[in-house]
Amino acid sequence: MAFHHVSVMKQEVLSLLSPAPGHVVVDGTFGGGGHARAILERILPDGLLIGTDLDEDAVTNAQACFADVQDNFRIFHDNFSNIRAVLDQCGLAGANGIVLDLGVSLHLLEKSGRGFSFQREEPLDMRMDGSGGGPKAMDVVNAYSQDELARIFLEYGEERQAKRIARRIVQRREDEPITTSGRLADIVASAVKGKPGRIHPATRVFQALRIHINNELAHLEKFLETCLDCLLPGGRLCIISFHSLEDRIVKRRFAALAQGCTCPPDFPVCICGNQPKVKLLTKKVVKPSQAEVEKNPMSRSAKIRAMEKLAVEGAGGEDGRAKQ
Ligand SMILES: C[S@@+](CC[C@H](N)C(=O)[O-])C[C@H]1O[C@@H](n2cnc3c(N)ncnc32)[C@H](O)[C@@H]1O
Repeated sequence: MAFHHVSVMKQEVLSLLSPAPGHVVVDGTFGGGGHARAILERILPDGLLIGTDLDEDAVTNAQACFADVQDNFRIFHDNFSNIRAVLDQCGLAGANGIVLDLGVSLHLLEKSGRGFSFQREEPLDMRMDGSGGGPKAMDVVNAYSQDELARIFLEYGEERQAKRIARRIVQRREDEPITTSGRLADIVASAVKGKPGRIHPATRVFQALRIHINNELAHLEKFLETCLDCLLPGGRLCIISFHSLEDRIVKRRFAALAQGCTCPPDFPVCICGNQPKVKLLTKKVVKPSQAEVEKNPMSRSAKIRAMEKLAVEGAGGEDGRAKQ
């Protein structure tokens, strides 16, 4: 199956990650491998690109499309929140670079048949790892209470009409269980009040369900807890997010890692002893150029934040392979 995705802000990722020959770089959200291929070209002849993805189609596609660089490439069907364990399996102390390009690929949206798009009539699944366990979106939509559904739509979709939509879903599922993306999209559209906006009325509800089903924010938090331990001194992390919930989490964690002393300002001397652990490479978020947004409108909400792990005494500047 041909795997379709258009990578966003490739040049910006390259200039922030600064991959060089011999580097070990992890692409935690491999997708169609667009970022990975561009990075690989910079780390050859002796670098290593490690990919992870939850979507088994992405992994199968990677095995075929990256066969030409098999000595410099490994792919894992895993969650990026497990990157530390993946590096351990590869016998590596850390990476020189990590990139995350959060959310779904065009493949998941358009070709997976798993109900990610409100524009398609497909089984309402929404698990990125279609081979994994855990509830599908249809289980949630048909079993959760009205309050619980409203909370998900509000919290993960920032949907102002969350309560109305949840009420309508609960009414309609009495007639017949909601099992397809098309039917859910119609039910949401029928519940939403007001003039049609710029985006489809089901956009936020679909985003919210997807985030809930895949536990996306919790995995991002877990990754951010371990990211420092996965980077070599001087190693860089670059995260592309597509909505404010993700961006807020990344921004706060980066700021906490970059912060030095946390003593109250009226303390005459520092007693916490905290030192900054990273340097922020993006004081302001990096956004796609106007030209990119015109070419690929789906890039319009993308934002990059990047940081560099500060070198500790005597340990800076190595590459990951040297530490095996
Ligand atoms: C936006 S796409 C990445 C596209 C890729 N950068 C490219 O250039 O083709 C996001 C990918 O990340 C995967 N993904 C999302 N969350 C994940 C997670 N927690 N762990 C592993 N993969 C994840 C999705 O399955 C999807 O393939």
